[in-house]
Amino acid sequence: QVNTFFLFIPAPLLTAAPARALIDEQISIKGRFLPPHCPVTVCARMHSEDDDLWEAFAHYNTNADGTVNLTKDHSVGGSYLGCEPMGLFWGLQPAPGAREGLRLRKKNVEIPYVVHMSLLEGHVSPGEGQSTELAAVTTERWYTAPGVKRIKIRQNGIVGTLFLPPGPGPFPAMLDLWGMGGALVEYRSALFASRGYASLSIAYIGHKELPGPQNRINVGASYFNSAFDLLRDHRQVCADRVGIIGLSFGVYLALRIATETGAKVRQKVQVIVFLQLENLACPLMYIVGEDDLSASSIENANLETLRAADKSQLFTRLSYPGAGHLIEPPYSPNSRISLWSVKPKKLITLWGGHLAPHAAAQEDAWKKILDFMENNLRR
Ligand SMILES: *[C@@H]1O[C@H](CO)[C@@H](O)[C@H](O)[C@H]1NC(C)=O
Repeated sequence: QVNTFFLFIPAPLLTAAPARALIDEQISIKGRFLPPHCPVTVCARMHSEDDDLWEAFAHYNTNADGTVNLTKDHSVGGSYLGCEPMGLFWGLQPAPGAREGLRLRKKNVEIPYVVHMSLLEGHVSPGEGQSTELAAVTTERWYTAPGVKRIKIRQNGIVGTLFLPPGPGPFPAMLDLWGMGGALVEYRSALFASRGYASLSIAYIGHKELPGPQNRINVGASYFNSAFDLLRDHRQVCADRVGIIGLSFGVYLALRIATETGAKVRQKVQVIVFLQLENLACPLMYIVGEDDLSASSIENANLETLRAADKSQLFTRLSYPGAGHLIEPPYSPNSRISLWSVKPKKLITLWGGHLAPHAAAQEDAWKKILDFMENNLRR
């Protein structure tokens, strides 16, 4: 005689919600149907557009109900420690054996990062020997919300890309300036447009459609003012609600545009790092990474110039211990060093910043940047 039993044991499950989100949105990651109080590893892997593998992992112990919830549970080892709901994203690092000096940057903003997450048995280091995968899930991380328009700008000598939010506008707008690394960097503008702002990224060095040689700035000061004018005069932009954001050398440029065109327009300016402020007539936010090893932003951020000109009420300063030079949109990993150039000479740049405090700075600064824009450009 044979007795047959059917016992329903659900298979382990890993969920990530929402499965598709903007890069600056938090997602909720949870493992279920696991044995209680058992060690597991949650691991994230993705390929950059240059096909380099990036990965992060963290060790957890399941709760009494056989779950692990990254929004509230603590990692006890791996790429980060403690309760870090987005640690698997900002903790991404080049996989062992990767090329040196990598920095993760999005080039094509019309496709997402696709992050594969897996739940592994035990406390293991992925890539090291055998590990048993219990469950897996994939998430998409976007810089561009549905309906955002990407428009190539080649006008008045300007090499840029304009991003427009969905709808007819007119929209408040941002001019987006990056550093001497060059090229046309679009991802922050794409994200601003996803948040309701028209945003223009421009190239001013290191782009083949600009006057050469590529390793020098060969555009004059008027280039930047024309870019500002082009944005301000666009029919889908509110002419009196245009801000500027800069990072690294972009801060200097932002300040220069703000002080030079300030007489013509009452524009509102938002800037991340900077010079001569006596002529400033608009609000300024200055963000400092206290472990910045590539620019003396702490010294630069002093209020004296503005105080002397009786303008300190225009100035907001944010300062973050343990953060480096490259304060970017949140949940993207910091590169403490990265390869600057290969030719004619191999150069490595030291940016500074430690992974966890840098990630915390990016998250906090981004909220404050968006609030600052909301208060100064939309109200
Ligand atoms: C995970 O924990 C957070 C915080 O306690 C809670 O809000 C969320 O609902 C939990 N997620 C799931 C899927 O249970």
